Amino acid sequence: MQYKRILLKLSGEALMGDRQYGIDPKRLEEYAKEIKEVVEKGIQVAIVIGGGNIFRGVAGASNGMDRVQGDHMGMLATCINGLALQSALEDQDVHTRLQTALEIKEVAEPYIKRKAIRHLEKGRVVIFGAGTGNPYFTTDTAAVLRAIEINADAILKGTRVDGVYNADPEKDKNAVKFDSISFKDVITKGLKVMDMTAFTLSEENKLPIIIFDMNKVGNLMKLVSGEKIGTVVDVL
Ligand code: GTP
Repeated sequence: MQYKRILLKLSGEALMGDRQYGIDPKRLEEYAKEIKEVVEKGIQVAIVIGGGNIFRGVAGASNGMDRVQGDHMGMLATCINGLALQSALEDQDVHTRLQTALEIKEVAEPYIKRKAIRHLEKGRVVIFGAGTGNPYFTTDTAAVLRAIEINADAILKGTRVDGVYNADPEKDKNAVKFDSISFKDVITKGLKVMDMTAFTLSEENKLPIIIFDMNKVGNLMKLVSGEKIGTVVDVL
C-alpha cells in the first residue's frame, strides 16, 4: 500500500449527486463502500467534508449576509454532512468517530488530536466536522491542518475532475492533465488546486496533495494501492 494514513477531503457538493441541494443517500452509500474497502486494507482514514450542498458561506456573504455569520452556518453544515457520512459508514459496519472543531458535545466528540490518533490506530474512521472552527478558513484549509496534525501521509482531495490540468477541462477540450506537479509550478503557472491559505500550509509542511475523481468507483482504492490516479502535487 502506498499510504498508511490518509486524510480524505470530500466536497459537500459531491454529496448532492444529481440533486440541487442536500444529500443523495445513494451517493453517500457509494462513498461509504469505497471508504470501507480502503479501511479493510488496514489504511487509516480521516475525513474532512465540506458543507456546500447545504450552505455556501461565501455566497451568503455576497448576498449581504455577515461573513462570520455565514461561515458559522457553513461549519454547522459540515457537521450535518459528517453525521450523515458517519451513519452511512456505520451501515457498512465501519467504526467511526465524529469530532468537531466547535463544541456540540451532545452531538459529537470535541476535536482532540491525541484521541483522533488513537481512534485511527484502532482502525476507526475519524470524521472532522466544523472546519477549523474559525471563520475565514475553508474546509480545504481544515483538511490540510488536520492532515498535518495527525501526521497523514497525504491529503486526497476528491473532486469532479480527475486531476490538475493546464486549462479548465470543463471549458477547454485541449486541456492536458499533469500526473505530478510541484507546489512551485502550480503557483507559477497560475493553476488552482486549493485556496492559497490551504495550499501554502500544505507546501510549508511538505504534505502531498492528490487531486482525483472520487465519483469514479474504485478510484480511491486504486490510489491508495499506488496506481497513478489523478495529479500529485508535491515538493518534487
Ligand atoms: P477508546 O477509549 O480509545 O476505545 O475510545 P472510545 O471512543 O470508544 O471511548 P469513549 O468512551 O471516549 O467513547 C465512547 C463513545 O462515546 C463513542 O461513540 C464516542 O464517539 C462517544 N463520545 C465520546 N466523547 C463524546 C462527546 O464528548 N460527545 C459525544 N456526543 N459523544 C462522545
